[in-house]
Amino acid sequence: MKRAIIVINAYTKRGSELNQPRRLQEELASLGVEAEIVRNSPAVLRAEADFAIYLDKDKYAARALERRMRMFNSAAAIETCDDKMLTHLALAGFPMPETISSLLCYTPEAATSADLLGEAEARLGYPMIVKENFGSLGAQVYLAEDRRELEELSERLKLRPYLYQKFIAESRGRDVRAICVGGDVVCAMKRTSPDFRSNLSLGGKGEIFEPTEEIRSLCARVCAAIGLDYCGIDLLFGKEGMLVCEVNSNAFFGGIEAVTGVNVAATYARYIFHEVYGSAPRK
Ligand SMILES: Nc1ncnc2c1ncn2[C@@H]1O[C@H](COP(=O)(O)OP(=O)(O)O)[C@@H](O)[C@H]1O
Ligand SMILES: [Mg+2]
Repeated sequence: MKRAIIVINAYTKRGSELNQPRRLQEELASLGVEAEIVRNSPAVLRAEADFAIYLDKDKYAARALERRMRMFNSAAAIETCDDKMLTHLALAGFPMPETISSLLCYTPEAATSADLLGEAEARLGYPMIVKENFGSLGAQVYLAEDRRELEELSERLKLRPYLYQKFIAESRGRDVRAICVGGDVVCAMKRTSPDFRSNLSLGGKGEIFEPTEEIRSLCARVCAAIGLDYCGIDLLFGKEGMLVCEVNSNAFFGGIEAVTGVNVAATYARYIFHEVYGSAPRK
């Protein structure tokens, strides 16, 4: 019997978070793999399975589980993508918006470093993107229009890791989301929004987008550099070509499946089958 576990967050209450694991479970079942959906817990570390699809972001449990079985994605890749500054550092040399890391602060009464603010202002200009290292659905991404807003945001975020980033004005409210499996772009959509962030969760609209050779090769290189089996890459339209905005190791695929008609779950399940069992699935 071929067995797998699909690990989800221990505490999540959002029913929508069950769509993704259920779709993967279904597709694996059609390939003869019995996959159990489990909430993260100490018992998960004792599970007997050929592999895990890890849809949580708990990096500690991921590392522990990886001692016992092949993980999709690997614990290291999940950790790198979860933290936007770590992603940026892992992709040194790639086309990306210029980025400056905040400085670790554990002194609440201290003012934000004037050196840091001065450097960000001089190198990145306004409006400037300010982003928390840990965030999703656009909710922890901000735009500072001037020095006062930059100072306010910096003060508010001071005790958390965050970054300053050049605002790619040509790409305001639009980007490309590409879903990759094994380094190949399996589908892509262009997202457009009245907001400066193009996330569908904030009112962005997706339309099918034929990935160019430039996008395919950039995405393949990103996947190889971080060691990703599966991901969603956000790409910005820069003056001189596409720029990597961020990489989501646990990208939701429901929205993009609806827009593009591509069965992402089936593609990913077949890829995993081949990786684990060394042969192509029979159907
Ligand atoms: N440097 C930037 N320049 C222009 N737009 C950006 C920039 N960074 C992010 N955005 C916009 O904000 C959205 C959300 O940012 P992203 O880094 O993808 O965070 P999240 O994980 O919350 O989706 C992007 O899809 C893009 O539309
Ligand atoms: Mg994003």
